[in-house]
Amino acid sequence: MRLIHTVAELRGALADARETAFVPTMGNLHSGHISLIDLARRHGHPIVSSIFVNPLQFGAGEDFNRYPRTLEADCAQLEAAGCDIVFAPDANEMYPELQTFSVQPPLANELCGAFRPGHFQGVATVVLKLFNMVQPRYAAFGKKDYQQLFILKGMVRQFNLPIIMLEGETGRAEDGLALSSRNGFLSETERAEAPRLYRLLREAAQRIETGNTRFTDIEQTAGDELNRNGWRVDYIAVRSQTTLLSPEPGEQDLVILAAAHLGRTRLIDNIECCPA
Ligand code: PAF
Repeated sequence: MRLIHTVAELRGALADARETAFVPTMGNLHSGHISLIDLARRHGHPIVSSIFVNPLQFGAGEDFNRYPRTLEADCAQLEAAGCDIVFAPDANEMYPELQTFSVQPPLANELCGAFRPGHFQGVATVVLKLFNMVQPRYAAFGKKDYQQLFILKGMVRQFNLPIIMLEGETGRAEDGLALSSRNGFLSETERAEAPRLYRLLREAAQRIETGNTRFTDIEQTAGDELNRNGWRVDYIAVRSQTTLLSPEPGEQDLVILAAAHLGRTRLIDNIECCPA
């Protein structure tokens, strides 16, 4: 496996590659990332993964500075998983100019975007740049970041990028907690509490699947339960899988998305469901 830090070297290494499969990350890898590498390996070759903690997608007061940088351990995991190239540029390589062009995606101010202004502009911008640097045929993203995946699929479609998007199911701990690099921030007590989020999403999905269409009540009940247990809820929202907007009456493919803070850690999760 090669560790590459510059775009020039990356371009050289991939000059003859036509079926590259790409897994972009911010590092601090867990088994959810490795399952994306496995997914990528089933489609293309070579496998390229990037590690870049993207300043553009963190707002003021967010966890950019404390986001774990664990390059050596990440490389060991990626090599064991069969990754061929790790691309780890520094901020100057990624953003060499003072003024940065940025992508303004639709839905960037909805859901997580309403609480993290500029976040999805930052994500879409860095992913577009990474796509241009790596020029992959396939790119793999996890469904835990549901809104991110939705926005990036829209970007690929609307900018006519010749990339096939691969979607990885959310990896979970045995107690249901979605795997996330941020789980490491949780104290022991918070870690024991954290699975409540997915438990409540499952209950909410079950209510919808057994015929309850009072989505506002369902969102409210789950939010109240989190608030009673010490969380600070950003949102719990029943949305259409197709538009990520509020569902039309009778719409079948729904997703419940949630974001809430436990102590200093913001957790997100989601569950897809179909009304009875
Ligand atoms: O999901 C992530 O880890 C990041 O948002 C991504 C896609 C690597 C862009 O920085």
